[in-house]
Amino acid sequence: MAIQSIKGFKDLLPSDTERWDQIEREARRIFSLYGYEEIRTPILEFTEVFSRSIGEVTDIVEKEMYTFPDRDGRSVTMRPEGTAGVVRACIEHALPSKSPAHKLFYMGPMFRHERPQAGRLRQFHQIGVEVLGPSGPSVDVEIIALLADILDSLEVREGSLLLNSIGCPVCRPDYLASLRAFLEERRDRFCENCRRRIAANTLRVLDCKVSACREATADAPAFSQHLCPACDAHFDAVRRGLTGLGIDFVPAPRLVRGLDYYTRTTFEWVTDRLGAQNAVAAGGRYDGLARALGGPDLPGSGFALGVERLVALCAGPLPPPRPLAFFALLGEEAARLADPVVRRMRREGIRVERDLLGGSLKSQLRRADKAGASLVVIIGDEEIKRGAAVVRDMNEKTQAEFSLSDLPEIIARHLQPSSSGR
Ligand code: HAM
Repeated sequence: MAIQSIKGFKDLLPSDTERWDQIEREARRIFSLYGYEEIRTPILEFTEVFSRSIGEVTDIVEKEMYTFPDRDGRSVTMRPEGTAGVVRACIEHALPSKSPAHKLFYMGPMFRHERPQAGRLRQFHQIGVEVLGPSGPSVDVEIIALLADILDSLEVREGSLLLNSIGCPVCRPDYLASLRAFLEERRDRFCENCRRRIAANTLRVLDCKVSACREATADAPAFSQHLCPACDAHFDAVRRGLTGLGIDFVPAPRLVRGLDYYTRTTFEWVTDRLGAQNAVAAGGRYDGLARALGGPDLPGSGFALGVERLVALCAGPLPPPRPLAFFALLGEEAARLADPVVRRMRREGIRVERDLLGGSLKSQLRRADKAGASLVVIIGDEEIKRGAAVVRDMNEKTQAEFSLSDLPEIIARHLQPSSSGR
């Protein structure tokens, strides 16, 4: 049997990549409008980068990471997300000493050994941003606005923004104590995982998907009622900022996120069009992360959107770009004459296709039609004798003969004004 790809790792075929390309292009355009710069960090990092940031008692670190010893015996991990590596890189290259604010974006594959299902892969792709330095609420508002603009530019208009605040080291201990007391009183009603987490990772009990656990936490104390004055003011400013920009949000007291590094703002963009995997993008503030990685005090805030999920929300695959002209060539001599013209046009930025399969004129014309070319240039023995080519206008159903040297100009003329080829 022929070798197949690994479960949860997907090929992107040409019929997929046109849409991916559009998404990445749109995201880059919007990043540039907002003044975000690209960072590319390695796919493989020392395991501590993730275990110290994401948290030892999280699904990702406990059971989803692709971790193995490398040939020197060091434990390495294929990045399950982008934030930890970006913060590690900022510390390593002392970026905070160079400027007080860094607005960064990244795109690329992430790896989690989850159970594959619709919208959940083992290799998936994120487009993310991280703002390092400023700690104020306007950053949180800005990244959410940026996310909304990306979705809007791709005409993904449904979905809701869930918003919460999970406090800071000042207010969290009190909140956790009252939450823990509440959970302990109902210990018997929780799944085994949650029972373990009551002590080890109390907050996560709130976002367990098991319905009995959800019922048992329905009237759990909400963090928003326990925020310290500074977190309360921050959360209030984020909400006012979003309202000022006309961005709707839904307060989500259970939104604690599956990664431990968050402080204050957390958010998720969810839609009911994706089944169980309903989060298209998610993020929040992580003011303590740089310190946890051994770095300086470096507040941060960011999000990542799942490209596969975003693609699923876009309206189907995009058609491939159509060539303006298709050269149907009958014989070697025709190819010899046509190739310099084809190359010249491509170098001038005109999308031109040249038949590579040979065969009869009829079969080449069929391929030209399939490619969606608006002009077909035909060169056969008769045309060669006259140093000419027949140019057939596929839309007007007309054709005329031109000298080979006039071809680029004749074809370029078709670029204006409305037959530009897509
Ligand atoms: P996350 O919620 O783990 O956050 O992932 C962000 C997004 O990546 C999800 O909303 C989802 O769209 C996509 N995603 C996650 N896992 C999978 C999967 N197995 N298959 C397909 N798509 C998936 C983070 O990764 C944080 N680093 C986000 C962040 C950036 N927070 C601050 N800055």
